[in-house]
Amino acid sequence: SPDERARRIETLDWEALDADIRACTACRLCERRRQAVPGVGDRQASWMFVGEGPGAEEDQRGEPFVGAAGKLLDAMLAAIGLKRGEGVYIANAVKCRPPHNRTPGNDEIEACAPYLARQIALLQPRLLVALGRPAARALLGVDVAIGAARGQVFRCRGMPVVVTYHPAYLLRNQRDKAKVWEDLCFARELMERATPA
Ligand code: URA
Repeated sequence: SPDERARRIETLDWEALDADIRACTACRLCERRRQAVPGVGDRQASWMFVGEGPGAEEDQRGEPFVGAAGKLLDAMLAAIGLKRGEGVYIANAVKCRPPHNRTPGNDEIEACAPYLARQIALLQPRLLVALGRPAARALLGVDVAIGAARGQVFRCRGMPVVVTYHPAYLLRNQRDKAKVWEDLCFARELMERATPA
């Protein structure tokens, strides 16, 4: 059937993208990674969360947000009724672990941008959530301070983008938990407004 055929083509597109990511040598991050980390989740998702880059556990397992920050991200998703893999897709600004988990450079974010763009183009999410400054940089192409950018709606390729703090930051700054809760509620409201029940 045409539906089945479309689904098959879509699967091939995702597989080609993930294979390209795994084979990438576009920047120096490829030199010290164990493996590149493609996105994970529901390929029909309305929500897309974008992190910074793989850490040690992600580099080892080949999946985004599987370490401590990932556990907190799962709790953040649950707080607004979401679940990893169900209506949610998760990716990173850079697909390879920066040495010693340093912040990825803008040159590395730029080198990796075509992969993020392809993920977004395939997914066509209804809402993008940037987790932290490097993710915001990757999606918006400019530097924003999260504290100043929270509560605003930005655009990436026509799709709405909101920003909040990265869960790893939140692990170190628990007092900002309420702000992230606010940001997530704001995101959920935007989504509900876009898709009336
Ligand atoms: N932090 C991120 O930004 N991404 C991951 O995948 C894990 C930790």
